[in-house]
Parts: sequence; structure tokens; C-alpha cells
Amino acid sequence: MSLPSGYSIRELKASDHTNGILDVLSGLTTVGTVTANAFESIFKQWSTLKLSNGSNVYNPLVIVDSNGKVVATGMVFIEEKLIHSGGLVGHIEDIAVDSSQQGKSLGKFLIKELSLIAKRSGAYKVILDCSESNVKFYEKCGYKEAGVEMQIRY
Ligand code: ACO
Repeated sequence: MSLPSGYSIRELKASDHTNGILDVLSGLTTVGTVTANAFESIFKQWSTLKLSNGSNVYNPLVIVDSNGKVVATGMVFIEEKLIHSGGLVGHIEDIAVDSSQQGKSLGKFLIKELSLIAKRSGAYKVILDCSESNVKFYEKCGYKEAGVEMQIRY
């Protein structure tokens, strides 16, 4: 599977603050205020954290169009556990494709790349939470329903 012509995928950069990523994420949920300083500080923290095996804990990716503008984003966060002999679990988070770019397989490509990063980092599984309306999309990406999400909000 490859991206449609004109699109490319890469790791998030500190300079992406003004490159459309926050607009894309606003299609997923409330983004709120993220100043350039806050963006840089979060980016630095994500870039610094490493697993015991040296892989990145945070792995944010973006898909950009031919003008370099962010049109899709998502990340896989790798959790290091005590169980399963210090096993690693990937968590797919904050997947969003710009509303004008949906239906071009960008989301599917993004999930494939994020899942691969988790596998290469040594994860034995990758999990995610999604709404009922997105179940079919994740099934098309090879994921299966497992368990029930619980939450408490503050
Ligand atoms: N219901 C049923 N099928 C779907 C859906 C859906 N909601 N969305 C996509 N599909 C199917 C497509 O038809 C396609 O099928 P095909 O391979 O047989 O042609 C396949 O899934 C792949 O679709 P893509 O074109 O890759 O999907 P897209 O690029 O539009 O991205 C996404 C899907 C990410 C859900 C996008 O619609 C989006 O950003 N929605 C708003 C934000 C959102 O809900 N994000 C996911 C939150 S969950 C999380 O972050 C862990």
C-alpha cells in the first residue's frame, strides 16, 4: 500500500506548529490554545523520552500534501510494562485526517505506519480507543474489537 501521488509521510517537526496540524486535530476534538512555546516544549519532551531499548516513547507522524501542509496526523505511544517480562504495548492516539482529504486512504496508511513503528520498537500488541462509528475503519486497518473502554473525567 502506498500514499496517493503528491503526499508524503514523515515524523512531526517543531516547526509544524504553524503548518496546519492544529487545524487538522480540531476535526478530532477541541484543541484549545497551544502557543508556539507550548508546542515546542511538548515536542521537546516527546523527542527526549526513550524506552530501555533506546526506541522513542512518543512517535508522532504527519502526512503532508505537495505544498508541505499537514493534512493528517497521528501518534503511537509505547508503554513499557512490568508484565510480559517488561513487555511493550503501543497505544495509537489522536488520529485525524483533514475533512477535505478523507476517503483517500491517508488514514489507513497512517495506521499502517504507526503500527509498524510499534512492531519495530518491540511491542507485542497495539491498542486504541475509538467511537462506534470508527470501528469499521479500524477493522479495515486490520484491528479487532477487544474489551470495553472505561473512563473517569476531571
Ligand atoms: N466507517 C466505515 N468505513 C470507514 C470509515 C467509517 N467511519 N472511515 C473510513 N472507512 C473505510 C474507507 O471506506 C476505506 O475502505 P476501503 O479500504 O475498503 O476503501 C478504509 O476505511 C480506509 O479509509 P481511509 O480513506 O484511509 O480513511 P480516512 O483517511 O478518511 O481516515 C478517519 C479515517 C481517520 C477516521 C478520518 O475520517 C478522520 O480523521 N475522522 C475524524 C477524526 C476521527 O474520528 N479520528 C479517529 C479517532 S480514534 C483515535 O484517534 C484512536
